[in-house]
Amino acid sequence: MRASTTDRLKGRVTGSMDKTSGEPEVQLRLSGVTRRFNDVIAVDQIDLEVKAGEIFALLGPSGCGKSTSLRMIAGLEKIDEGSISMRDRALADAGQGTFLPSEKRNIAMVFQSYAIWPHMTVAQNVAFPLRMRRVKRAERRRRVEEILAVTGLEAVADRPATLLSGGQQQRVALARALVYTPDLLLLDEPLSNLDAKLRIQMRREIRRLNQELGITMLFVTHDQDEALSLADRLAVMNKGKVEQVGRPMELYEHPKTPFVRDFLGRLIVVEGVLAGDAALRRVRLDTGGRRVGEIVGPDVPAGLGEGDRVGVYLRPEDVDIKPYDAAEPAPNQVMARVLSSAYLGDSFEYVLDIAGSNVLLSAPRRVVHHPGDTVVVEVDPQRAMVWPL
Ligand SMILES: Nc1ncnc2c1ncn2[C@@H]1O[C@H](COP(=O)(O)OP(=O)(O)O)[C@@H](O)[C@H]1O
Ligand SMILES: [Mg+2]
Repeated sequence: MRASTTDRLKGRVTGSMDKTSGEPEVQLRLSGVTRRFNDVIAVDQIDLEVKAGEIFALLGPSGCGKSTSLRMIAGLEKIDEGSISMRDRALADAGQGTFLPSEKRNIAMVFQSYAIWPHMTVAQNVAFPLRMRRVKRAERRRRVEEILAVTGLEAVADRPATLLSGGQQQRVALARALVYTPDLLLLDEPLSNLDAKLRIQMRREIRRLNQELGITMLFVTHDQDEALSLADRLAVMNKGKVEQVGRPMELYEHPKTPFVRDFLGRLIVVEGVLAGDAALRRVRLDTGGRRVGEIVGPDVPAGLGEGDRVGVYLRPEDVDIKPYDAAEPAPNQVMARVLSSAYLGDSFEYVLDIAGSNVLLSAPRRVVHHPGDTVVVEVDPQRAMVWPL
């Protein structure tokens, strides 16, 4: 039963690979999309391509234009400039004056507040979109049974929706969105009302539904862990603009703008000066006139020259703390002082003073450092990011 469900629901995406390149085709395209509210530019000239079958995330702080973008795609909000298309079909085009109403877009949307109907059972909730589309009763029943099986809700089918847990309600919202095989599923902060454990479980569920049904998903979140762990690709947004688009690892390891760099993960910043060998791949680190180390061989952005002040950005998980036992730190070591330590059983957590900033680092429990100790932080230069200051 499960296999046939999946096969049938999957029907829509078969043939979605581009014949020549073998790459998934573009399912949704936004070109120069802009939305203003009085003098606020909520969404500012964004371009996006979401590929068939992928999970794509819009990630950014509150107010950066994520929900407005989603609402324009759903047809719940007009667009002031640009165009939105699904496959070859124009959904909205400001220049042409095209606007396809929401109910003609075959796009499903799940909100943070699940908006399921309290007076209906689970099965009735899930059947509702099919009733709206006047699907015949026998077909309706068959499809509801199928999607309840896929979402693990069979056992609670006849229960009033209000008697369900938060996680089950979220599942009902998903089942209801998926029951009519939409071309695209939009999710607006879908997990932010769930507790931490359930959130992680639902991430896996969403991933599984995406893989089993092959449905293209676009979700928005302000939670970087959620975006990095769930998305195949993501766009980081800031003040209505898209800063960078890419796979999670690309964005985390190679941020292209200071905003993306600072928004994703934690960073240790040490200031220094580019030293003048031919390739300029040495950074002398100094703080208050005192030399604290040297990084040899990092990638240095074009346009920087000898003597330029730079920041070296390090991920805490990329550095190792070592005892300081030489007269001078070796290349790719930065001097630091232990301010405090906490024993966590499987590891230690240290607060270090590195070049005048307090930094929290965890370290294996094999080597113990004590408050007041001078230590070095060892850096892999390939993982150090050099930015102009
Ligand atoms: N209907 C509206 N009327 C006026 N301003 C709005 C409206 N909807 C959104 N905005 C404004 O547009 C900006 C982007 O909002 P939104 O898309 O909701 O951001 P996000 O979902 O990223 O938190 C915000 O400054 C918000 O106040
Ligand atoms: Mg929002």
